[in-house]
Amino acid sequence: MLTTVRLDANNTDDLSRASELLRQGKLVAVPTETVYGLAANAEDVDAVKEIFAAKNRPSDHPLIVHIADKDRIQHWAENIPELAFQLAEKFWPGPMTLLLKKADNINSVVTGKLDTIALRVPDHPMLLRLLKQSNIGLAAPSANPYRQLSPTSADQVMDNMQGKIDAVLDGGDCQLGLESTIVDVVSNPIRILRSGPITANEIETFLGQPVITPATHTESVPGNVKAHYQPRAKLTLCDKEKLFIALSNDNPKIGYIVYSDDFDKDQSEHIRHLPSDKYAFAKLLYKTLYEFDKVDIDEIWIERPPQTDEWQAINDRLARASAATDA
Ligand code: TXA
Ligand code: MG
Repeated sequence: MLTTVRLDANNTDDLSRASELLRQGKLVAVPTETVYGLAANAEDVDAVKEIFAAKNRPSDHPLIVHIADKDRIQHWAENIPELAFQLAEKFWPGPMTLLLKKADNINSVVTGKLDTIALRVPDHPMLLRLLKQSNIGLAAPSANPYRQLSPTSADQVMDNMQGKIDAVLDGGDCQLGLESTIVDVVSNPIRILRSGPITANEIETFLGQPVITPATHTESVPGNVKAHYQPRAKLTLCDKEKLFIALSNDNPKIGYIVYSDDFDKDQSEHIRHLPSDKYAFAKLLYKTLYEFDKVDIDEIWIERPPQTDEWQAINDRLARASAATDA
């Protein structure tokens, strides 16, 4: 077993250490604005294989490559449509991943043998500094064991990956708490493969052209599985009325997550109030699910969020988190 070192992203020596480890082909969990990523040098085939092993992730599930700035797109991709540069200019650094045609010189281990590649410039100052300093692209899936919750803090990474990776770079709690929006810009019209903090509406408004969003979950991409982002406790989405009734005869084995003001904070020891603003809600969602996983409950009942475009990414994650595990 490895000893996982904890490094401080705000300490210059620690940041250099992380950079060195990555250049040596080691695994380092890194902070991003969305969730923590489990990073390795994207052009080091052995290091990339270690990512799959540490996560217990099937080797055909492609990884996202994180790059320092948009000028490096051409190193990783070819036949890049003009619109990809426009999106990069507008939304990078930020929670948008662009799916492009992979450049020939890039080994397809990182793309799960696909001829497309997912790229993004993350919006986290310390990670950007690390990317520049190390001068490599970082393949980084979320830093959790396969199918489990994405971590939004260094503690959570430590809990789940200790002994399997070389280091965790602690850059504080993630600002967004929800994985990036993945946009396939190879297809025409372009389409969203995974909803995220940047909505289809925002992209359509910016580009002035339609963006296809799968209404339901699609298995067309390996890794885009239905049962995902799962807490240990069984998660159920409930309407407000059902939650009121349940709370009136509180079961100590159930945890409740609500956002409406109508709920009484003291009604149960296991009730957690999230903000009704979607950004603030998203930031705390995984954290709250994760905290419930550490206490002695069997189920989590969560108030169903509004079924609107604004809340699409959150509803998508909750649908997957509550799906049967054989799905
Ligand atoms: O916010 C994020 O995107 C985080 C942070 C760490 O950047 N990363 C993340 O990675 O969520 P991961 O591996 O947990 O999810 C990546 C998703 C997978 O569902 C995978 O199928 C999709 O990206 N993906 C990556 N490359 C792809 C490709 N070439 N074609 C289709 N889908 C791809
Ligand atoms: Mg993931």
